[in-house]
Amino acid sequence: MSESKLEALLDERREFPPSKEFAKQANAQPSIYKEANADPVAWWRKQADRLTWDKAPTKTLEWELPFAKWFSDGTLNASVNCVDRHVANGLGDRVAFHWVGDPEGDKRTITYSDLLTDVSQAANALTSLGVKAGDRVAVYMPMIPEAVVAMLACARLGAAHSVVFGGFSASALSDRILDADCRFVITADGGYRRGAVAELKPQVDEALTKCPDVKAVLVVKRTGQDVEWMEGRDHWWHDVVASAPKTHTPESFPAEQPLYIMYTSGTTARPKGIFHTTGGYLTQAATTHNYIFDVKPETDICWTAADIGWVTGHSYIVYGPLTNGVTQVLYEGTPDSGGKDRWWKIIEEYKVTILYTAPTTIRTLMKWGHALPQAHDLSSLRLLGSVGEPINPEAWIWYRKYIGADTCPIVDTWWQTETGAIMITPLPGITATKPGAAMTPFPGISVDIVDNDGKSVGNGEGGYLTITAPWPSMTRGIWGDPERFKETYWSRFPGSYFAGDGAKRDQDGSLWLLGRVDDVMNISGHRLSTTEVEHALVGHPAVAEAAVVGASDDVTGQAIVAFVTLKLSADVAEKDQGPLVAELREHVSVMISPIAKPRQIILTPDLPKTRSGKIMRRLLRDVAEHRQLGDVTTLMDPTVVSMIDGLMAQHSSDDD
Ligand code: WTA
Repeated sequence: MSESKLEALLDERREFPPSKEFAKQANAQPSIYKEANADPVAWWRKQADRLTWDKAPTKTLEWELPFAKWFSDGTLNASVNCVDRHVANGLGDRVAFHWVGDPEGDKRTITYSDLLTDVSQAANALTSLGVKAGDRVAVYMPMIPEAVVAMLACARLGAAHSVVFGGFSASALSDRILDADCRFVITADGGYRRGAVAELKPQVDEALTKCPDVKAVLVVKRTGQDVEWMEGRDHWWHDVVASAPKTHTPESFPAEQPLYIMYTSGTTARPKGIFHTTGGYLTQAATTHNYIFDVKPETDICWTAADIGWVTGHSYIVYGPLTNGVTQVLYEGTPDSGGKDRWWKIIEEYKVTILYTAPTTIRTLMKWGHALPQAHDLSSLRLLGSVGEPINPEAWIWYRKYIGADTCPIVDTWWQTETGAIMITPLPGITATKPGAAMTPFPGISVDIVDNDGKSVGNGEGGYLTITAPWPSMTRGIWGDPERFKETYWSRFPGSYFAGDGAKRDQDGSLWLLGRVDDVMNISGHRLSTTEVEHALVGHPAVAEAAVVGASDDVTGQAIVAFVTLKLSADVAEKDQGPLVAELREHVSVMISPIAKPRQIILTPDLPKTRSGKIMRRLLRDVAEHRQLGDVTTLMDPTVVSMIDGLMAQHSSDDD
């Protein structure tokens, strides 16, 4: 065992109590749990006072399981809460974003006053293109300030945005545009990734061949690459936004006005449009951001190193931090754009105090060695966060020791697109943390870990994670499909929300997340369903059947392994398998996204099936992880799985 592994395991049993200095100045004081849990609904009502309401709510929670309304008779405007009110409070000169582009030297500083002008102009431009309250607008952008401006401009007009991660393919984009019936798209000509130009507008053009109802496309010029243009439909941002009036009078909307839709993978091939509304969502995003990251808006520089195309970017780059009026770093590139120490340079240059990222990135940075961070002054950091997947103790210890100078508290935050904001987390200054544990429900949140029959498990036992009471930022449902919402989340354990995650309570009652218990994979913190990838593979003319599993991977957490049988007509000679496998991987990338590309594809004459014809993924997972095979007695043909095992051993990894 390596020295660092041993150290991590020893430390796993060690608790990291908060320092006295941190505890003294922390936003969250120990009484918070008692206060919140005495009357969670009343506590959340108090937290809603962080927002500026045009009409303060008199109602707090209306709960008709599984549909919740929070603060429903209150009215407000989300963009006013994120921008206007800070300017009105005299904070217009405070920097909202230090934007750092992928190519080194490309940077911009945007104050809250600048942001107000930008959002007002964008809102005026969108209005002139026909966007109205209640519409849906697709946003397909790189990590540039205009992405935030676009989201806030939609919110200002009461139109829901549906941000589609820029790494998604044209086909994934058109599916999402059609599902939400978006009539407008905001995009850019392209973006940068490690200095190279990535295309966006061509993907939009291709997607829109299937979306005849899209009336207008607004395009930011980011790279200057040549793009096709459809007169009447396409508009340059620098024409229509830059020339729009610089002020805009916001309207007030009910607390339950849809704010956004975010598509996420479930256990079926079709992604779900998780939708969020305004008042409850903003309340929980701002409250969690305040207490968990302990933000001091006057002095902190927050950096959530996530893409705006995922929920982490929505809640902890846009809505939480901006509602709290903090200064942030917004970074377009990857951790190695312009060198493997790019992150450390950014932290040093901007004196970042709070860093929030995913375990997969921490493991990548760890692989590059601690000499890189040690060569930079990271002493400005005072708190570190983790999100997206369980963090292994080794990565936790490395993060704390080499990035956090062995003093920064680490908050391992568990939540989901559906929960809208953080649900389980330590509170810095209060919780003594354990490497790898998310520890405790946030104040005002009730969770339980239950067994197969829905009974609570005791300390030292594991089971399914459930949420037992409604919370302000909970999704209001799956866009256009209330039945699917009930069925997916509320039927497994009646009365409770089933998150799809396994969890355990340790001997002290602290919570540890154990990963998904359904067919959802977590690849570098990105959610993908096995069925979604299988569906893409079966869409290839050579493929008869496909079974996909997530196998553990040292860096990405899980990696995709696909087992594929070919149609008779496509029977290929052994020597031609390489090119076909490459073609299949590319096919998945085009159908979904490069993140969905299988690490390995095994071509096999057959798949292990039960007598009733169900593919036994459990056994394929054993094969993919080189484990002793589980029970094979229910298989129709038990020899199939040992044959696949043999094939797997024969083929070296098809990794890039
Ligand atoms: C996983 C991301 C363990 C979990 C905010 C969840 C985590 C899924 C953690 C949601 C964590 C997220 N520890 N697992 N701290 N955070 N997860 O919707 O499986 O992209 O169900 O939201 O990520 O992924 P999503």
